[in-house]
Amino acid sequence: MLELTPRALRLLDCYDDGEEARHFRLRIEQPQAGDRAVIPGQFFMLGLPGLGEAPFTYVSPPNGAGEFSALIRRSGRLTAQLFERTPGAVFGYRGPFGKGWPLLLGARRVLVVAGGCGLAPLAGWIEEALRHPAPPHVRVLYGARHAAAQVLERERARWRAALPLIETLDQGGAEALRGSPLAQLDRLFAEEVPQVVLCCGPEGFMLAIAKACVRRGVAVDSIWLSVERRMHCAVGLCGHCYIADSYACVDGPTYRYDHYLTLLARGNGRGALGELGVGPC
Ligand SMILES: Cc1cc2nc3c(=O)[nH]c(=O)nc-3n(C[C@H](O)[C@H](O)[C@H](O)COP(=O)(O)OP(=O)(O)OC[C@H]3O[C@@H](n4cnc5c(N)ncnc54)[C@H](O)[C@@H]3O)c2cc1C
Ligand code: FES
Repeated sequence: MLELTPRALRLLDCYDDGEEARHFRLRIEQPQAGDRAVIPGQFFMLGLPGLGEAPFTYVSPPNGAGEFSALIRRSGRLTAQLFERTPGAVFGYRGPFGKGWPLLLGARRVLVVAGGCGLAPLAGWIEEALRHPAPPHVRVLYGARHAAAQVLERERARWRAALPLIETLDQGGAEALRGSPLAQLDRLFAEEVPQVVLCCGPEGFMLAIAKACVRRGVAVDSIWLSVERRMHCAVGLCGHCYIADSYACVDGPTYRYDHYLTLLARGNGRGALGELGVGPC
């Protein structure tokens, strides 16, 4: 059934978590059985009366009481209004939508790479991997512009105790970790070549990371990205989120790298993946 009618979503509390970013604890009023079936990487639509809706990912999935959290950056009209709301405020909720990250229970060596707020869609996957009875060896490479721009401070503090978390800053911080996450790949690959790479951040950043990983020996079909497109209906009806013939709201937002390149090439009217740097790169 297409989920087009919003349900009530209550703001429980919130705290600042990064520059112009805030961590929101929310509750779906009158939760339903299917609400808990969120796969990390999926998204929901949050609506404000008179301002429409925007998509956001779950940092933690809904629990039995319908409570979950999201990390939201102030970027335009809707998010600016959201930042003005106080606990008790009620919004519209539709979801979950799209395809989440693959669960990869068979993979033993996973590299998670995030840039800026791109850490939010990966948080649920990291938590799930850590809870697994036989967790894979997960390393997280996280890049931000400077220390104040880093998000998910509480989650990162917990992860630091459980897995290798490599945090780079474009400006400031320790010299060895200054610059782009790309600069850390040689060292990380010398320690261990990942079987699988999950990546989320600005599109150019993800494509650069994916290409660098392929060059270092990761198979193109073992890299996953989460892409952002403008979304309205979120259920494959309006066509706002088209990437070639794929609806990002239904087929994405997570895409396997080789599939995504095929879509980009098709959208550009080009057929060969080699033109986009896949293959002998
Ligand atoms: C699947 C998905 C998951 C998302 N998850 C999160 C999340 O967890 N946290 C979060 O803070 N944001 C997330 N976003 C982004 C968020 O939905 C947008 O920033 C949203 O437009 C904010 O609404 P607004 O009215 O405040 O800003 P708008 O007025 O809509 O836009 C502000 C600025 O962002 C640009 N913009 C908006 N949407 C996009 C887009 N899709 N691609 C490129 N540029 C865009 C606009 O052109 C404008 O410059 C996600 C987007 C998608 C598609
Ligand atoms: S947002 Fe309407 S088709 Fe994807």
